[in-house]
Amino acid sequence: MLLFEPYRINDKLQLENRIVMPPVVTRLATNEGHVTDKLIDRYLMYADGGAGMVVTEAVSVKKQKSGQLLRLNADEFIPALAELTSRVHEETPAKIAPQIIHFLKIARSGYRQKVEDLDLEEVQEIPRLFAEAAARSREAGFDAVELHYAHAYTMASFLSRHNHRKDDYGGSLKNRLRLAEEVLQAVRSSVGDDFVIGARINGDEFTTGGNSQAQSKPIALRLAELGLDYLSVSAGGRFEDAVPQEGEALDPYTGYSGYRTMPPRWMPERVNVYLASEIKAVLNQAGYSLPVLTAGRIPTAEVAEDILQRGEADVVAIARPILCDPYWPRKYKEGREKDIVKCIYCNQCREAEGAFEEVTCVQWKKD
Ligand SMILES: Cc1cc2nc3c(=O)[nH]c(=O)nc-3n(C[C@H](O)[C@H](O)[C@H](O)COP(=O)(O)O)c2cc1C
Ligand code: SF4
Repeated sequence: MLLFEPYRINDKLQLENRIVMPPVVTRLATNEGHVTDKLIDRYLMYADGGAGMVVTEAVSVKKQKSGQLLRLNADEFIPALAELTSRVHEETPAKIAPQIIHFLKIARSGYRQKVEDLDLEEVQEIPRLFAEAAARSREAGFDAVELHYAHAYTMASFLSRHNHRKDDYGGSLKNRLRLAEEVLQAVRSSVGDDFVIGARINGDEFTTGGNSQAQSKPIALRLAELGLDYLSVSAGGRFEDAVPQEGEALDPYTGYSGYRTMPPRWMPERVNVYLASEIKAVLNQAGYSLPVLTAGRIPTAEVAEDILQRGEADVVAIARPILCDPYWPRKYKEGREKDIVKCIYCNQCREAEGAFEEVTCVQWKKD
């Protein structure tokens, strides 16, 4: 199976196979963004389960209130993350990368900071924050770094058609791309040419008036042109269609766009794969061969293999099925499919994450 064949990312990083566990917030960090023993155990389990690479939950590049989310905004976070990476490397063949994120403020009062609210100084410090966090990632022993340019957060919101800034960072697609370009270039300067930099983008925002493939294709092309090493194509997860709840901060995964990020069981299998496949086709036609990752409701190795065989993506990202059974890759590889605890796409894990509770799986107790 192609799925279990070794794979090289942009001729820089060797993976055992073409399975990536994409970011899944664990809520196992401390409120100050520090690693805990439980968090290390969780990632060791994912890595031991056989995925070629594990991308961690979003890790904040900025000191900011965020609940139990990892941080990389200062050197003090390096030693514990270095313990995580060295244990993953010593105990498993998996590679590990942090997903680094910048996000804006939201409050229980319903207040939501938007990209239009940032002054120029605040915008211009963002590339530096990403570059410093990326350098710390490398120092901590990670194998790659993934830039979070998807969903509800700052970078995706700059790229979005919903960005109505009046300066050089808003309005036209050229302007909206500016910050993404500056971040990627700053990160490249800080980590060097030999280090893998990936990015996660939205293939479609699935909001009225937001980005669709008409925007995500040129965005992908521009990032490839700037030397991105892999592109992970996600979808949705926007504030624009989120459903407000009295006394709660707005949650970007409560509207239709949020369902497209983590497709529930009433959506078809491989519902977002066409987004990656069409972007991949555009990249390949333009002469770029960086790996394209697809995610969303890919339940089995057979479906994953079919996606690879058809050339719809180069690598498959399997999130909830691996949260449900971390040994999903290894059990398939060893022909032990019947032993796999199957994800039922109920999204209880996502509910826990939204409620700032430890992310677990309802299926675990049946194991
Ligand atoms: C609890 C939970 C937390 C997630 N956290 C992140 C995150 O931090 N960053 C991100 O890009 N995606 C995040 N995702 C989205 C997943 O990476 C993945 O794209 C999505 O779940 C669809 O893949 P799946 O159908 O295999 O689960 C999260 C998903 C879940 C269920
Ligand atoms: S809680 Fe539900 S959706 Fe989440 S991993 Fe478990 S079975 Fe899948």
